[in-house]
Amino acid sequence: MTTPRTAIVTGAARGIGAAIALRLATDGYQVAVLDLDESTAATTVAKIADAGGHALAVGVDVSDEASSQAAVQRVADELGAPTILVNNAGITRDNLLFKLPVQDWDSVLNVHLRGAFLMVKAAQKHMTAQKFGRIVNMSSLSALGNRGQANYAAAKAGLQGFTKTVAIELGKFGVTTNAIAPGFIETEMTAATAERIGIPFEEFKAGAAAQIPVGRVGQPEDVAHLVSFFVSEGAGFVNGQIVYLSGGPNN
Ligand SMILES: NC(=O)c1ccc[n+]([C@@H]2O[C@H](COP(=O)([O-])OP(=O)(O)OC[C@H]3O[C@@H](n4cnc5c(N)ncnc54)[C@H](O)[C@@H]3O)[C@@H](O)[C@H]2O)c1
Repeated sequence: MTTPRTAIVTGAARGIGAAIALRLATDGYQVAVLDLDESTAATTVAKIADAGGHALAVGVDVSDEASSQAAVQRVADELGAPTILVNNAGITRDNLLFKLPVQDWDSVLNVHLRGAFLMVKAAQKHMTAQKFGRIVNMSSLSALGNRGQANYAAAKAGLQGFTKTVAIELGKFGVTTNAIAPGFIETEMTAATAERIGIPFEEFKAGAAAQIPVGRVGQPEDVAHLVSFFVSEGAGFVNGQIVYLSGGPNN
């Protein structure tokens, strides 16, 4: 039997990242669960172990060069060379442009955009060496523009250009790079948005669902399903694509 491939999922302590980590473990990969705090990442690792999978919790700040390099090295040492990378870690610091602090511009750009760059930079050598790799970046429907999210929209649109360029540069090494741009997904991130604007979460979700052609908001497992496809062996000719995963034709 061949050794299972190693997958890294960032921001996998909860929400969409946790669902992706669980799905990839169920698909048979060894999964490195990366998040800011190793102890919170360990809760996802425990769920994977309960389901019969194999995972490792690693603390990392993806926006820090030394931290991201050390995390990827630890994964390579303890699980094996990572050939799958899902850049999912993210934060929001929403505000209207005129009162958006410069620091909140920087922190959002740093986690999403600089973080994805640093993680790809650290992981790509393991992929090119094996002539196989799968990179998935988490963009957002907000890349098309969203009131109160100038920083987040810029980061998520930037990730799309980054995705297409990495796809061009690494394609010849058997490494594909794609992005998912989810619409409304039910997680703590969207719950926090509802709280910030003072609407009960159930009401916020119902309002969103009414605007979505399939008549419901998305679940983390919806995103995990598409990641599962992108990282599969058979998806080697799908490269540099952005899929809007929003229950409708929103792009
Ligand atoms: N929820 C949605 O509706 C939605 C829609 C589109 C895109 N997204 C994107 O999907 C991704 C996951 O979103 P979510 O809703 O699960 O969010 P979430 O807030 O529930 O989870 C994000 C995770 O990222 C981790 N994280 C934050 N900064 C980090 C850093 N510097 N280094 C490592 N880990 C870090 C957090 O600790 C957290 O566990 C994000 O990139 C988000 O922008 C979410």
